[in-house]
Amino acid sequence: MKIFKTVKSLQNYLASKKEIINFVPTMGALHAGHIKLISEAQKNNALVVCSIFINPKQFNDPGDLKKYPVTTESDIDKLYHAECDILFLPDTQEIYPSGLEIAKYDLGNLNEILEGKFRSGHFQGVCIVVNRLLSIIKPNNLFLGQKDYQQCAVINKLLQITNSNCKLIIIPTQREKDGLAMSSRNVRLTEIERNEAPEIYKQLKIIENLRNKVSLSKLKEEFIEALQQKNIQTEYIELADADDLHLKNNFDDKDSVLLFAGYLGGVRLIDNIIINGHHVN
Ligand code: PAF
Repeated sequence: MKIFKTVKSLQNYLASKKEIINFVPTMGALHAGHIKLISEAQKNNALVVCSIFINPKQFNDPGDLKKYPVTTESDIDKLYHAECDILFLPDTQEIYPSGLEIAKYDLGNLNEILEGKFRSGHFQGVCIVVNRLLSIIKPNNLFLGQKDYQQCAVINKLLQITNSNCKLIIIPTQREKDGLAMSSRNVRLTEIERNEAPEIYKQLKIIENLRNKVSLSKLKEEFIEALQQKNIQTEYIELADADDLHLKNNFDDKDSVLLFAGYLGGVRLIDNIIINGHHVN
């Protein structure tokens, strides 16, 4: 695996390459979910570029940025074993050199709901860094995980706004054996919290299973109560259209996504499941 720390050295290297370029952006603290993105990106003999950059612009809470795990040595080790071709490991000056023009993206409704509502400025920060990385790497395909469902919708919008030729490929959420969605933040859970956290996925599946029998508002109430029993404070539990993320009050015959965010101790966790509209009566 080649490691580049500067834009110039990476671009010089990529200029001589003819292969399809598949790009996996990350903020490090890599886990099996990221490695799955790498292995999907490796298909069809593509050249795989992974980036590790903890983007300060997407942290609305400075405390959260401070607590974000930094595990660069073990990340490099994992990428090496996964046979990733290229790691881009820039510092802040490379990504945000002085004088860089920072755009403001009109994300419409996506900026106002769910993560957009509770993490003000977060998606602007994500768009700024992803657009910058895309302009440096110029990949054919970009790989993101479904766990950040709204982020995927935001990036799709960014690609539209910027008339990009890059295609977004979304890979299903990777889960621990007990159902907990893999996340870099999970390492911050205490042992007790780690045992409580699988309740999130369990209760999302209960809503899915009962959706033809019980009203959504009642199911949401029961969800919030069940999580409270496990010390998980729900920030939101919402049903939305799987395509445009418009919020819904009831299940219908279109595909939906059920999205959750909440706190377990000091750790903010998110998860979601897609619910096929064809099974709704
Ligand atoms: O999902 C993430 O880890 C980040 O939001 C991303 C896409 C790498 C941008 O910093």
